Amino acid sequence: MVSRVIPVEAFDLVIFGGTGDLARRKILPGLFRRFKDGQIPDEARIIGAARSDMTSEDYRAQVFDALNEFLPISKRDQKALDAFLARIDYVGIDATGTHGWSDLARLMRPGLVQAFYFSVAPALFGDLAKRLHKHKIAGPEARIVVEKPFGHDLTSARDLNATLARHFDEQQIYRIDHYLGKETVQNLMAVRFGNLLFEPLWRNQYIDHVQITVAETVGVGGRGAYYDKSGAMRDMVQNHLMQLLCLIAMEPPARFDPDAVRDEKLKVIRALEPVEPGEVVRGQYKAGAETLSYRDDAENPASRTESFIAMKLHVANWRWNGTPFYLRTGKRMKSRVSEIVVRFKEPPHSIFEEDTGQSANELTIRLQPNEGMDLTVTIKEPGPGGMRLIDVPLDMTFAEALGEEAADVPDAYERLIMDVIRGNQTLFMRGDEVEAAWAWTDPVIAAWEAREEKPMGYEPGSTGPEEALILMHKDGRRWREIGS
Ligand SMILES: NC(=O)c1ccc[n+]([C@@H]2O[C@H](COP(=O)([O-])OP(=O)(O)OC[C@H]3O[C@@H](n4cnc5c(N)ncnc54)[C@H](OP(=O)(O)O)[C@@H]3O)[C@@H](O)[C@H]2O)c1
Repeated sequence: MVSRVIPVEAFDLVIFGGTGDLARRKILPGLFRRFKDGQIPDEARIIGAARSDMTSEDYRAQVFDALNEFLPISKRDQKALDAFLARIDYVGIDATGTHGWSDLARLMRPGLVQAFYFSVAPALFGDLAKRLHKHKIAGPEARIVVEKPFGHDLTSARDLNATLARHFDEQQIYRIDHYLGKETVQNLMAVRFGNLLFEPLWRNQYIDHVQITVAETVGVGGRGAYYDKSGAMRDMVQNHLMQLLCLIAMEPPARFDPDAVRDEKLKVIRALEPVEPGEVVRGQYKAGAETLSYRDDAENPASRTESFIAMKLHVANWRWNGTPFYLRTGKRMKSRVSEIVVRFKEPPHSIFEEDTGQSANELTIRLQPNEGMDLTVTIKEPGPGGMRLIDVPLDMTFAEALGEEAADVPDAYERLIMDVIRGNQTLFMRGDEVEAAWAWTDPVIAAWEAREEKPMGYEPGSTGPEEALILMHKDGRRWREIGS
């Protein structure tokens, strides 16, 4: 059972960078799925925009190829594909020049929701915002969607915010972090704030620690040169992991509305303590039997950029004092996993004998694979062997609990794009949130740069450097096994 699909209002959505990788892999297939499900009305239109000169007909052929490449066969219904393609136009436009802007102005229809997806390099965001304004294409209700990376540090993020603010109000700006569009992430809020069960326990008195892991098996491959200027801290921690941490650590908002939720997340970021050097482990993957080392992938033999990072964070407030948050993320790891583990404390007093097997409860929130949650509870081992205790999972894998349809929940991008059309900013980052995240990140990076610290090597297909395990072992804790 999945919730009813409620159609959004008719819209004109312009995808700047409509021929690029993100548009082909995520945005267009996502829009097609929403269209096929009946969420996008017939009057809606999608306009691809990029510099290449081509007709709308040529572009539709490109979109058709992209859908064939990135949609599973079961989703490629020919009738729906034809109807979707009929809603697509193209305009050749140069973000930095004059070409194409009057064509775009002519194409836009007054009275409909207007959305502009900036799926181009961030260096072009300012040019696009300026020209949308100058050519009077974007009305006062128009929305712009901007992709990561949102800045490289606090200064650049502030500049970017200021540039966009010259032409658009904060209510019009949708800074996308696709982690927030995941079903499980929203479910985390439902579980925390829709049940009485968890919230009373959701604090330092009962939670021993929290772990957040985002592990990838791929290396930096084709984007090595770009990645080498960024690293795991900027590419993953400052945005995705920080957002997940906020959802775990935030106070209950008064309402489920955009500013109430984002105010609470902002308080968490501002409560983060600076990280001590001994509480960060940075790594770089080594060469494997058939794979290049990080430095070869990045084509930088002297690179000090991390492809792996593990760290221990403290949220300095009443709720979390003394409960650490351990974060780790890396490339070329053992398996592809994104999960949050909330480890509860052991009961304060055990009535059972010492070797009965009692242990602490653990709530695992899996973003991938198999989106879902499970909670381990201790029960008596069935049978006549006396009071022996075992942990069993209360499994809330959506596909199993809610039937087959639930395995087909919208992908993060499609959900977020529908939120843009609906004008709901709850799952998008506000400007001050992004700046606060950089304000915390910058000194951590500056500290290791000042020490000219080199990342530690780790084997591809592993769980990262040994030191990341030690980071937890020395606190008497351990990471949940990646891929377990
Ligand atoms: N790909 C991903 O998985 C991914 C994930 C997260 C975030 N992002 C972000 O999403 C954005 C797009 O990434 P991408 O991977 O799709 O990049 P990409 O494959 O390089 O595509 C860039 C697009 O921008 C267009 N473009 C470049 N210069 C232009 C100009 N002056 N005027 C108008 N259009 C121009 C390109 O077409 P023409 O060259 O024909 O103009 C192309 O359509 C970036 O900010 C990236 O950081 C991407």
